[in-house]
Amino acid sequence: MSEELVIRIGGETGVDVAPDLWGLFFEDINTSLDGGLNAELVRNGDFEFTPLDHPEWGPLTAWTVEGAGSVALRHEDPIHPNNRTYVRAVGPVRLVNEGWDGVGVEQGRSHVLSLCAWRVFGEGSLRASVLGGGAELADAALEVPPGGWNELTVSLRGRVDGRGVLAIEIPEGLTVELDAISLRPAGPDGASLTFRPDLVEALAELRPSFVRFPGGCVAHGLGLANMYTWKPTIGPRHEREQIPNLWGYHQSRQIGYFEFFELCELLGATPMPILAAGVCCQNTRGGPKAIPAADMPAYVQDVLDLVEFADGPADSAWGSVRAGMGHPEPFGLRYLGIGNEDAITDDFRERYAQLEDAVRAAHPELTVIGTVGPAPFGRDWEDGWAFARERGVSIVDEHAYRTPRWFHQNVDRYAEYARDEPGVYFGEYAARTNTVRSALAEAAFMIGMERNSDVVRLASYAPLLARVGGTQWEPDLIYFDADRVLPSASYYVQQLFSQERGERLVAASVEGAEPVSVVLPESGSVRIASPGAEFELSDLALDGVPLEPVRTAADGAIVTFGDIRPSAAALAFTAVRRAGDKGLAVQLGGEALESRLELLIPNWTGLETVVNRYDDGIGNDDDGPTPWRSVVTGEPIRVRVELEGPHVRVWIDEVLQHDYAQDLRPEHRVVVGAAVRGAGDQTEHVVRIVNATGTPRAARLVLPDGARCAGHATVLAGAGPDEGASFTASPVLPVEVAVAADGSLDLPPWSLAVAVIGSR
Ligand code: AHR
Repeated sequence: MSEELVIRIGGETGVDVAPDLWGLFFEDINTSLDGGLNAELVRNGDFEFTPLDHPEWGPLTAWTVEGAGSVALRHEDPIHPNNRTYVRAVGPVRLVNEGWDGVGVEQGRSHVLSLCAWRVFGEGSLRASVLGGGAELADAALEVPPGGWNELTVSLRGRVDGRGVLAIEIPEGLTVELDAISLRPAGPDGASLTFRPDLVEALAELRPSFVRFPGGCVAHGLGLANMYTWKPTIGPRHEREQIPNLWGYHQSRQIGYFEFFELCELLGATPMPILAAGVCCQNTRGGPKAIPAADMPAYVQDVLDLVEFADGPADSAWGSVRAGMGHPEPFGLRYLGIGNEDAITDDFRERYAQLEDAVRAAHPELTVIGTVGPAPFGRDWEDGWAFARERGVSIVDEHAYRTPRWFHQNVDRYAEYARDEPGVYFGEYAARTNTVRSALAEAAFMIGMERNSDVVRLASYAPLLARVGGTQWEPDLIYFDADRVLPSASYYVQQLFSQERGERLVAASVEGAEPVSVVLPESGSVRIASPGAEFELSDLALDGVPLEPVRTAADGAIVTFGDIRPSAAALAFTAVRRAGDKGLAVQLGGEALESRLELLIPNWTGLETVVNRYDDGIGNDDDGPTPWRSVVTGEPIRVRVELEGPHVRVWIDEVLQHDYAQDLRPEHRVVVGAAVRGAGDQTEHVVRIVNATGTPRAARLVLPDGARCAGHATVLAGAGPDEGASFTASPVLPVEVAVAADGSLDLPPWSLAVAVIGSR
């Protein structure tokens, strides 16, 4: 073992740990509601999928039709205007639903089949069965009355555990119309479940103080029609307005605002609705659209109505709607977010101000959370902060999807924030991968947030849930498939922080660990690739030495141009696209796991360039995106890059496109934080220690006045930094160890330890 780490715990600092610090971000991304937390087993049971959800989808997606009879789509007399499409089935025919990777049933459990149906013609009853592996896993018969739509339910008891399809059989001679077909497992009381139990359990283990919903980008939507408004998400499931999900699928909104509030109650968390600031997502084609000024009063009223729906007296207009749904008690709203990562435009400013003024006036008891752009720096962040300061916003929502290095470099970020300005909700963050390295970088930063609880009041990792095979964004906190829950290493980090919380901060310092310097690699090379296009590169020069012209290939093969010193290099070339429709990637620096830069001409938008930086194999934008003209086939692009120490300069067509210095601040790899809870001889110290290095360390915890340190610690360790990946369970699990009376505690390499010590 190397030098002992001495962790000295001091007296109380006078700052309380923010009581709601650790919470959840819930967005319907990665199939996390339908096909996820929603216990519904039937996919597209309302026949409402459309090509707007996904270009290849329509009303019969997830359904197949078998037999000599017929199934026709109809719209003439729907069960509700929000649920326009239904089917007329003429027997003998079988409508088969594939569910979400199959329809699963459990032995001995009841499953509630419900549907809207009426008998148009003939006699006979429907038969519903779950078929799998050549066997009938569950089945039931259902009489369908004539004369118009009926809501029917029947219970199917699972004969064995299994997975298959749901088949609805219409016998010969019977014609029926069907819609809103649903199959859900029943709970102990026989009623159908709203939420998938294993996922709820995984969320409950995180002991969240709050749950943010519905986004993320889903909150403000791609276009005004896609903005998430709450009223169409409550009431009978088959009457809810279903809309495309901007992540490329369908939202039935069976889990709407009421169910969100119920989930919060189940988890013991306070709900945190995030509402569009009257402007839709800035990534909407053609730019963000704002609700017309004339329509804003109605939108503002909608927001106030949501507060009344959540918490108003049971005899108020919207409180009575809640009471009618079986929940006369208030749900206990304390936070309300306005906006998500919005561009700070005049449209945004005006609408945000209108909304915040109205909420503040009507509900001074609520803390309103503002927004400061998508990144923890840059134009929107600066403008958002200036606007928030001007308005005296209580808390602003900062987001950071950055590399582990960024998190380690920024452990003290909030120590530098002014104490008399808006507080911070670190509302979306993740260190880019599902590795142990990323999880520990998040842990180090979380210690920094906790140590600055007078600035950071709330924090939530994002995204929360992701279905294997239905994911649009990585990394995520919890993966799952039809049968399994696969928590990541980051999940256990979150758990360790939220399950063991202190109440009051105490001073903590560490002897025997220094921040790790960040240096540029000594050697490297230049590599150019152009997946999806062919380029001719001419007038090439590397460090002033002319090189032969080359052609890049569309298969992405990398052309290597020789060695450079990443701290003093100059590259110039002229590129002409000859085929394909993509651009060029220019890499400069060390190989895979060292630090390297990557210039994208252009990035995914086609209209911007960006310089990415990779450290330990994990990349992030380092400068840009910066607007650019786009590649035109046949037209030359002159590129010059100069690296001088940390400075990076890129000229395109002799215009200085990127000009910045790489961040070489040291990384805090060994990080300590401490707080106390309880009082007198019942005082306990909660001490968190991250050792994000490859060296095992013997630590000694020292309490004030030499008090006994005996206690226990939960340690997350045992895998290398690059172990752990999306769609798999964490390679590390928390393990309990004892802390000796003298405070000694072994810290394995790449570990997080949370010790609870003191007099109890
Ligand atoms: O968490 C995924 C997305 O990241 C959110 O929808 C958005 O707010 C952010 O850009």
